[in-house]
Amino acid sequence: MVGTGFYVPERVVTNDELSRYMDTSDAWIRERSGIEERRWASEGTTCAGMARRASEMALTEAGLRPGAVDAILLATLSPDHAFPGTSAFLQRELGLTGIPALDVRAQCTGFVYGLSVADAWVRVGQYRTVLLVGVEIQSTGLDVSTRGRDMSVLFGDGAGAVVLQATEDPDRGVLSTHLHAEGQNAEILWCEFESSASHPRISREALDEGRHYPSMVGKEVFRHAVARMSEAVEEALGANGLAASDIDLLIPHQANLRISQMVQRRLGLTEGRVFNNIQRYGNTTAATIPIALAEAVREGRLERGDLLCLAAFGSGFTWGSALIRW
Ligand code: ACO
Repeated sequence: MVGTGFYVPERVVTNDELSRYMDTSDAWIRERSGIEERRWASEGTTCAGMARRASEMALTEAGLRPGAVDAILLATLSPDHAFPGTSAFLQRELGLTGIPALDVRAQCTGFVYGLSVADAWVRVGQYRTVLLVGVEIQSTGLDVSTRGRDMSVLFGDGAGAVVLQATEDPDRGVLSTHLHAEGQNAEILWCEFESSASHPRISREALDEGRHYPSMVGKEVFRHAVARMSEAVEEALGANGLAASDIDLLIPHQANLRISQMVQRRLGLTEGRVFNNIQRYGNTTAATIPIALAEAVREGRLERGDLLCLAAFGSGFTWGSALIRW
C-alpha cells in the first residue's frame, strides 16, 4: 500500500439534530453505538466525486499521477446509478480511459473483498498499480422518521482510497486475505427494493411500507459481527503463524463501537492497538476501513514493518480479514 486517502462531506449531523427528525436521543445513540456525529453529503454530491477526492489524496501520498493506475476497484452498496458501476464514473472523473473498472458488491466487507482481488491481480502480475476505493452515500437512502430509527442513526457518508503497487520487498505488503459469506442470512440485513424480480421494480405499496429502506435484525447482526470478525482475525493469524500479540494495529469495520470493543476483548488487544473513528463518522459501510486507514496513517499510528490487521463483517452475510506488513 503506497498511498491512502479519504474524503468526508462537510456537513456534520449530530445526534441532537437527528432527534429533531425522529424519536431518539444523543444518550441512546452514544450508549448503544458510540456514535456522536456523522457526515451527510449535500444535494448533487456523487459517490464518484467523493471517490475521486479520496483517490487524489491517495495518489498524491503515493507520488503518482492518475495515469499510473492500471486498474480500478470500487466497493459500494450505494452506487450513483443502477448501472453502469460507480467505478466507471470514477474512471471518467480521474480522466482515465481504457483501464478496467470493477464494482465490488460485498457491502461492509467490500473493501476487504476488493483488497483480495487487488492483491491477486498484483501477485500474478496482471496489474502493477491498483486503485482500491470504498465509498458510500447512505444519507439519501435512510428512513429518518421514527420508523427507521434503529438503522438511520448508525450510518454516514464518506470515501476512502488506497493505492496498491507491486513490490519485490518480501518484508512488505499483503500477507493474506480470508473471505467468507453466508447467503442463508441475506435478509437479516438487507434492502429489499428496488428489485428486478418485481414488476415494476418498485411499487407504491412497497414505498408506502418503507421496503426501499435498509432493514436489519440488529441483535442478530451484532452477535454475528462480533463472532465472525474475531474468527476471521484468528484465521488470518493462524495461517501466517502469528498471534494476536503480534498485531500492531487492528482496524475493524466501524459498525458499532461496542462491536469493536468486544472483538478487541476477545482477541486480548489493548485499546491502543485498535483504531476506531465511528464516533465521528458513524458506519460508512465499504468506506469505513479505508477512511480509518488513511486517518491512522496521518495520526502516525503505523510505522514501517508494523503488522496491520483489517476485519470486516456485513450484509450477505459477508465477512473477512486481511494481514498487511506495513
Ligand atoms: N433511538 C431510540 N430508541 C431506539 C432507537 C433509536 N435510534 N432504535 C431503536 N430504539 C428502541 C427500540 O425500538 C427498542 O425499544 P423497545 O424496547 O421499546 O422495543 C429499544 O430501543 C432497544 O432496542 P434494541 O434493538 O434492543 O437495542 P440494542 O441494544 O440491540 O441496540 C443496535 C440496537 C444499536 C441497532 C444494535 O442492535 C446494533 O448495533 N446492531 C448491529 C448494528 C449493525 O452493525 N448493523 C449493521 C450495519 S451494516 C454493517 O456495517 C454490518
